[in-house]
Amino acid sequence: MRRRLERGGKAGRIAPGRTQPEDAEGEMRVQTLEPVRGRRSRDERAQVRAPAALRLNPDVLGVAAPPIPEARRWAERYGGRLGPAIDLTQAVPGYPPHPQLVARLAAAAGDRETYAYGNITGDLALREAYAAELSGLYGGAVAPEMVAITTGANMASYAVTALLARAGESVMLPVPWYFNHRMNAGLLGVDAVPLPCRADCGFIPDPDEAAALMDERVRAVFLVSPNNPTGAIYPPETLRRFSDLCRDRGIALVLDETYRDFLPGGTDRPHDLAESGWPEHLIQLYSFSKSYCVPGFRAGAVVAAPEVVAELAKLLDCLQICAPRIGQAGLAWAIDALAGWRAENRAVMNRRSDAARAAFARLGDWRLDSQGAYFAYLRHPFPGRSSWEVAEALAVERGVVTLPGEAFGPGQERHLRLAFANVEAERVAEVAERLRDFRMS
Ligand SMILES: Cc1ncc(COP(=O)(O)O)c(C=O)c1O
Repeated sequence: MRRRLERGGKAGRIAPGRTQPEDAEGEMRVQTLEPVRGRRSRDERAQVRAPAALRLNPDVLGVAAPPIPEARRWAERYGGRLGPAIDLTQAVPGYPPHPQLVARLAAAAGDRETYAYGNITGDLALREAYAAELSGLYGGAVAPEMVAITTGANMASYAVTALLARAGESVMLPVPWYFNHRMNAGLLGVDAVPLPCRADCGFIPDPDEAAALMDERVRAVFLVSPNNPTGAIYPPETLRRFSDLCRDRGIALVLDETYRDFLPGGTDRPHDLAESGWPEHLIQLYSFSKSYCVPGFRAGAVVAAPEVVAELAKLLDCLQICAPRIGQAGLAWAIDALAGWRAENRAVMNRRSDAARAAFARLGDWRLDSQGAYFAYLRHPFPGRSSWEVAEALAVERGVVTLPGEAFGPGQERHLRLAFANVEAERVAEVAERLRDFRMS
């Protein structure tokens, strides 16, 4: 039995009159997707798990479980015929954290101060260091009171969704979406308005289309750049137009820049939104997990106008009281001290990205539709087969473990997401080789 993030509910249905996501040749067409209700019908596994005697919140039951554990279970059925399984599911670098950061974290674990509760919005040293980094990066002043440190960027996006929208209101999410952004909305009874992105437009969302789909219930647009799952890097002009749209509508632009440190070399300032002061409607999310290889320490950040951060603090007090303090202590040092190390890692990831482009370009009937940071969004050559079927068969038969496009929203049947963050450049070519003569039975 297979998980579908949008199984069973209205999600993924194409609006009447434009019924097919794909034509006979399997090409994507312009599609209009219906808003997805915050609460959806439970999927099969959720029904199996729900206790019989205890009534749980239907909004929670309606949200599907995360897809990565399931994809990894497929790999257990791979016999190893082609060598060890290659896990392309989790978007976190495979190289270790810097040894000096490890030493700092170990030292912080011996400091009794880190055992105490800290500030709700984070320790001042980390907020100062991050604010200074952002001020340099964006060419605008970011003050420490505009920064809230969270227990990871996922907790940040949950808290920000709760801050912006009430149950019954909506958030707009480009499709394919980052599944946790969709899950956040569902858990909170907030609807998701899908904004379709197309391969022939590089999966860049269109602000005019967003404006046309927006009604007064939409309280925020969530963008992720570089994008997970497509890797698409949104041009500064697109981000500017989304920002203007959100400002004009009096809603928030939430910009998740978790993969900012893996932009292609030469792209240092991803946008100019904060150049002349931080706009009140802009909320930026960041994760320390990837750039510093410390996902287990759970550290993320929200940057927003001070008044917005002050309100967010109410949510953070309930959700975390404070973010874990050992990680904060190490990261306050690392932001400046490891800037060079991060730049080297960025070059490593850029090389993997180049290797993926070269390897998949020679793959014939598979098509690399989009790529960036350490993601490749690959179109499979099996019309009529769902991405769940293809991903499962690939994992079991070839030991190539990917995530199905459908985990990232409606209309993604033809795509697989490959995260090559923990696969060295040489092995990226091996992935392509394992795909080459693969056929679905
Ligand atoms: C777009 C995006 N935001 C947030 C996160 C989660 O980051 P964290 O580990 O800080 O919660 C991820 C992780 O995959 C992500 O892809």
